[in-house]
Amino acid sequence: MREFGFESTTAEVIAGQDLSGRVALVTGASAGLGVETARALAGAGATVWLLARDRAKLDAALATLRAESLPGRLESALLDLADLDQVRGAAEGLLEACPRIDLLINNAGVMACPHGETAQGFEMQLGTNHIGHFLFTCLLLPALKAGAANGREARVVNLSSAGHRFSALNFDDPNYRQRPYEKWQAYGQSKTANVLFSVALDARTQGAGVRSFAVHPGAISTELGRHMDKEDMARMAASFPGGKMAFKTVPQGAATSVWAATAPELEGRGGLYLEDCHIAEAAGADSLGGVQAWALDPVAADRLWQLSEEWVGQSSCGNKA
Ligand SMILES: NC(=O)c1ccc[n+]([C@@H]2O[C@H](COP(=O)([O-])OP(=O)(O)OC[C@H]3O[C@@H](n4cnc5c(N)ncnc54)[C@H](OP(=O)(O)O)[C@@H]3O)[C@@H](O)[C@H]2O)c1
Repeated sequence: MREFGFESTTAEVIAGQDLSGRVALVTGASAGLGVETARALAGAGATVWLLARDRAKLDAALATLRAESLPGRLESALLDLADLDQVRGAAEGLLEACPRIDLLINNAGVMACPHGETAQGFEMQLGTNHIGHFLFTCLLLPALKAGAANGREARVVNLSSAGHRFSALNFDDPNYRQRPYEKWQAYGQSKTANVLFSVALDARTQGAGVRSFAVHPGAISTELGRHMDKEDMARMAASFPGGKMAFKTVPQGAATSVWAATAPELEGRGGLYLEDCHIAEAAGADSLGGVQAWALDPVAADRLWQLSEEWVGQSSCGNKA
């Protein structure tokens, strides 16, 4: 039995795996954990599509990985999760290019940004982190089911965060129309949505062999902190034992995503929240690690699924098994 933990790296969790012939899509693959996740999957032989919203950053990431002569093929496409029309266009092109998808890593994210709205008027963090990924995944489901049709599971990995503890999903006012915007609460709500989505998706697609997981990658110094000020940094550090944050390197940070996507130990399982390359325990009210009960609640997961279908105007996203 393989044993992994906080310090495990992408290279360690994927060692010995052969992903040749498999197709993986990684969102937010122009920076941070997305690039490293793409590197690990292509390193094991998968064809990997790097997806991001900024063409120049995407091309730079693609050039970096291509220069490493990885065994897997590398492709790229533009995807802006904050515009559902663009998401539809991107999914259409990808379905044409990839009639079969084995792994979808919904990694892109924004954190604690000033108040903003997506092209369709959703609060920016919920809109980018959850709603865009919800529509994108639903549109790709035929290809994911085709990926699973050869007897191997297809997997969807949704990047959540320990920050999900900042807030449950506020079903009364998810888009901050009636309450004052608070950037950390909004991040927490969006990261709770990532877990609820994993639970609801897994319930609907496991019969077709498509399994879904939510991941907390750890604390890693990336561009995600671009909206954090000194006060935010101090408050975050203070929340760690001894006031010292336990950071991971980028290869350690992407390891749980890669483990979720490829671990044989997870076969036949899904709808789970993972951290440090294992299935997380239930969290206490104030604990930094583990998963809050509200994020795994199947009733809330179904409610968010229905609401998300209304938001994206798509009612055939998948039926519950
Ligand atoms: N780093 C951490 O400590 C940490 C902790 C917990 C959870 N996470 C989660 O891990 C995931 C990856 O984070 P990271 O640390 O790698 O952050 P990052 O370095 O900022 O990378 C985020 C990626 O998402 C992309 N993105 C942002 N908005 C987008 C949009 N509207 N459409 C498409 N792509 C978009 C970014 O593109 P641009 O470069 O164009 O902005 C970038 O490629 C996120 O979901 C985050 O919430 C990270």
